[in-house]
Amino acid sequence: MTSVEQQPVTTGAVTFPPGFLWGAATAAYQIEGAAHEDGRTPSIWDTFAHTPGAVANGDHGDIACDHYHRMPDDVALMAELGLTSYRFSVAWPRIQPGGGEVNPQGLAFYDRLVDELLGHGIDPWLTLYHWDLPQALEDAGGWTNRDTAYRFADMAASVYDALGDRVPVWTTLNEPWCSAFLGYTAGVHAPGREEGAAGLVAAHHLLLGHGLVLDALGGRDEVSWGISLNFTVADPIADEPVHVEAARRIDGLHNRFFLDAVLRGEYPADVLRDTEHLGWQHVVRDGDLALIGAPIDVLGVNYYHGDAISGVTLPAATGLAASPGRPGSSPFPGAEHVSVAPRDLPRTAMGWEVQPDGLRRLLVRLQELGAPTMYVTEFGAAYEDHVVDGVVDDQDRLAFLDAYLRSVREAMEQGADVGGVFVWSFLDNFEWAYGYDKRFGIVHVDYATQARTPKSSARWYADVARTGSLP
Ligand code: NOJ
Repeated sequence: MTSVEQQPVTTGAVTFPPGFLWGAATAAYQIEGAAHEDGRTPSIWDTFAHTPGAVANGDHGDIACDHYHRMPDDVALMAELGLTSYRFSVAWPRIQPGGGEVNPQGLAFYDRLVDELLGHGIDPWLTLYHWDLPQALEDAGGWTNRDTAYRFADMAASVYDALGDRVPVWTTLNEPWCSAFLGYTAGVHAPGREEGAAGLVAAHHLLLGHGLVLDALGGRDEVSWGISLNFTVADPIADEPVHVEAARRIDGLHNRFFLDAVLRGEYPADVLRDTEHLGWQHVVRDGDLALIGAPIDVLGVNYYHGDAISGVTLPAATGLAASPGRPGSSPFPGAEHVSVAPRDLPRTAMGWEVQPDGLRRLLVRLQELGAPTMYVTEFGAAYEDHVVDGVVDDQDRLAFLDAYLRSVREAMEQGADVGGVFVWSFLDNFEWAYGYDKRFGIVHVDYATQARTPKSSARWYADVARTGSLP
C-alpha cells in the first residue's frame, strides 16, 4: 500500500456563482428499457449483456428503470429536486434502427422528453453517443470501420433537425476512452473485442465522428457543442523513473490522446511513439485531425477518481480493466506492463478511490491547457444503499458529493472556468458490466416495483441547487 497526501478540502459554507448549473445525468441504455418497442433494434449493449458471463448476474437493459414509460414522472421528480439541467443520451438504435433509416417513433420519444423538461424549466443537455451502437453497424466492423463515423454524423443530423430548436447544449460523445479501449481492447464492455490495436483504431474513428458532427452542425450561434471526456489523475506510485514513465503513458492514453486531439487537432507525439509498433496510425487520414480539432464551446469533464501508477506488473487484482468477475486484458494498448497500485484512501462500492482533490487538480490543469468553459458532466459514487422504513440515508454518498463539489469550487477560485455540474446519476441504473448491483443514483430505484425514492443525498443536493451553496 502506498499513501498519498490528501489535501484537506475546505469546510464550512461555500457559495457558487449565480447561474451555476446544478444537474444530474443518465444514459439511454442504462435507464430506458423498452428494448423492443416502437421500432428499436438491438445495440451492441443488448447483444453483449445477453452474452453469458459478460455482465454480473446476467443483468441486461431490457427493462432497466423503465424510464421510456415513466418519463413524465421522472421529469416531475427532477423538477421537485430543483435540478436546473438534465443530461441524457439518445439511443441510436431507436433513432436509426439497424443504423440506417430514421424511425420517427424513436425520435418522438426524445421530442416528448425535451418538451417535458422545458415545461418544467429544466435545460436539456443532449449526448449523441453514450455507447449503444446499433448491432448492425458493429456487424459491419463497428468503430473499427471508418464508415461508422459517417453514419454517426448522419444520425446526429437527424436528431439535430428534430431537436436543434429546443436543446441548448449538445455533446457528441460520452467517454470515447471507454467505448474504444474497454470495448475493443480490453473486451470488458460491448462489443467485447480484445484486439489490442483495435481500441486505437476505434478511438480515432470515434473522434472522427465527433469532428464530422462539428463540421456539419457546429459553429451555430444558437447552440453550444462539446464532448464529455473521462479523465484520470495519474500519479506515479513513487518518484522513480520506471513509475514516472508508466504514469506518463497512462496520462497519455487516458487523457492527452483525446484532449490534444479535441483541443489542438493533434495526437500527442509520445503516445504516437509508444503505440507505433501496433500499426494503427495508417487509419488517420489527411484532414481528419483538423476536423477533430474544430473549436468546441464546452468541455464535459467526467471524473471519479485518480490512479497511482506503477511501472511494474502487479497481481491481476489491481489491474487496470474495470469489470466484475472478468478482468480482461489491459485497456491500454502498448502499456500492458503498467498497473494501478492500491493507495490508502477510502473507496466506494466500485473499489474506486475517494479522491476529491484530484478533481481540483484536473480542472486547474485543463484550464491551463486551454479548455473552453468546463462542465463536470459526471461525478458521483456507488455505495451499498439500504432502504430502512422507506428511507435511504446515504450519508456516504452525500459526503462524497460534498467533498467533490468543494474541490470544484476550489478549482474555480484557482482560475478554472466551470459553469456547472451533473451528478451521476439521477437514478440507480444499469451499471454496464456490473449490472444493477452498483447503485450510483441520488434516487433509489426498486427494480421489482420501479418505485423511485429520493435518497438523503437527493434532498441535500436539492438544497444545494436551491441555495447555490454548500452548507
Ligand atoms: C461513466 C459513464 O459515462 C456512465 O455511463 C457510468 O455509469 C458511470 N461512469 C459510472 O461508472
